[in-house]
Amino acid sequence: MSVRTADGSAGDADYGTIGGAYAAYRRPEPRIGALIARALGAARTVVNVGAGAGSYESAAFDVTPVEPSAAMRAQRPAHLPPAVDGVAEALPFPDDSFDAAMTTFSIHQWSDPAAGLREMRRVARGPVAVLTCDPDLVRDFWLYEYAPLVLDTEARRYPPVGAITAALGGSVEVTPVPIPADCVDGFNEAYYARPEMLLDPAARQSCSAWSFVAPDVAAAYTEHLRRDLADGTWDARHGHLRGQPELTGSLVLIRAA
Ligand SMILES: C[S@@+](CC[C@H](N)C(=O)[O-])C[C@H]1O[C@@H](n2cnc3c(N)ncnc32)[C@H](O)[C@@H]1O
Repeated sequence: MSVRTADGSAGDADYGTIGGAYAAYRRPEPRIGALIARALGAARTVVNVGAGAGSYESAAFDVTPVEPSAAMRAQRPAHLPPAVDGVAEALPFPDDSFDAAMTTFSIHQWSDPAAGLREMRRVARGPVAVLTCDPDLVRDFWLYEYAPLVLDTEARRYPPVGAITAALGGSVEVTPVPIPADCVDGFNEAYYARPEMLLDPAARQSCSAWSFVAPDVAAAYTEHLRRDLADGTWDARHGHLRGQPELTGSLVLIRAA
């Protein structure tokens, strides 16, 4: 069962505390959005679970967003439909209500991801698209040298890809999602070529894993990065990434037909 905070947050992160700048730093990346839209295929009606501020809700679909956190619902721009207050594990819709279902950067926060994925299957007649990270690949990112507990937290929270495909059932495709160097959706790996961005406290706060690390530990991590950027150590080791147009990291799109 989901336990909800004062703000309504139903996952393991409290967006009433950390969600204030979310929409400014976590904007939908068009190249990732195009892959999600393709995965939803010919759907007209789509339910977006853990919808947050509305990232990746394409105008090409009639979208019904579901979002438990009031702080996140309040950041939805006026041109998007208001979100239904609800949780993935108990979607407030009858069976087969939508042509398709989607969820982006959310399942790792659910109290019961398998139950939520089964709910998405129940309410959608057609495909289910899940944008998430493969926990087996999370620690391959250079940030692990600087912020090991942050990425350990991410690796622990993301459900294994095999568990997601098993919960979805049917014919499931898993596709690695390339991350562009100028990605406007500011998750940790999005800054692979712009390490200075991770010195910005609001950028870090918009990646919920940082909220699981004690402030003094996070401060030591960022000080280490700041030092290595100032004296050229980071560039000597990873500077080639500044000119690399995209990174195939831990981000994956899982599509169940
Ligand atoms: C990192 S944000 C992603 C928001 C949006 N989908 C995006 O891509 O920007 C994770 C969202 O999942 C929501 N969430 C957490 N637990 C949930 C649950 N059990 N059911 C539905 N949504 C949940 C949070 O409130 C938050 O808005």
